[in-house]
Amino acid sequence: YSTMSANRGKLIVFEGCDRSGKSTQCAKLIERLRKEGHKAELLKFPDRTTSIGLMINNYLANNVDQRDEVIHLLFSANRWEGMQKMTNLLLGGTHLVVDRYAYSGIAYSAAKGMDLQWCRQPDIGLTKPDKVIYMTLNRDKASERADFGGERYEKKEFQAKVEKIFEQLQDPTYWQVVNGEGTIEDVHENVFNVVSPVVSSDCGPLKKLWT
Ligand code: TMP
Ligand code: MG
Repeated sequence: YSTMSANRGKLIVFEGCDRSGKSTQCAKLIERLRKEGHKAELLKFPDRTTSIGLMINNYLANNVDQRDEVIHLLFSANRWEGMQKMTNLLLGGTHLVVDRYAYSGIAYSAAKGMDLQWCRQPDIGLTKPDKVIYMTLNRDKASERADFGGERYEKKEFQAKVEKIFEQLQDPTYWQVVNGEGTIEDVHENVFNVVSPVVSSDCGPLKKLWT
């Protein structure tokens, strides 16, 4: 393959239940990668800044209702609308740290009882992450964290269902579980130990999800 793909940025995705510490760790990781001289950008799904993202935000805030199928497809569309920018950055050598991705899309929808295979379809063909960091945290601890319960899915029983689906989705060939308990610094060290070899290795050309 081309030099371009050999020098491309790596796609690092964080997944996990609400309040598992993903956003904090994403920010720490970006800071660390930049300090070590890498180009790195932080992205987040849902991206609430687009018009589709605004519809998603209204749904999560319980301002509007949507059929389960509709909101599922909006979450997926919100990823697809970010794909050109992501590809350009990766091929330009920028590492991407992404707070949630297609796995959240499947886990939260399937936790409502939707068919998992149906839920997977709209995300087929998205750029495949080079590494997924799956953050775990004891549900009691997660629900005690600031602001838990503010949005539609932040209910302990529902999060338990989401966790079950995430466990089914885990693919040991490119997933790594990181325990979110401990200090921010300790968890960050564990995260960095997983990410460091990925950013410095040649992962080959970009791949697509589930193809
Ligand atoms: P956030 O808390 O990371 O901003 O995500 C908002 C909520 O949306 C969170 O409860 C997870 C949920 N979600 C989905 O249901 N489907 C998706 O595709 C994504 C990315 C998030
Ligand atoms: Mg949330």
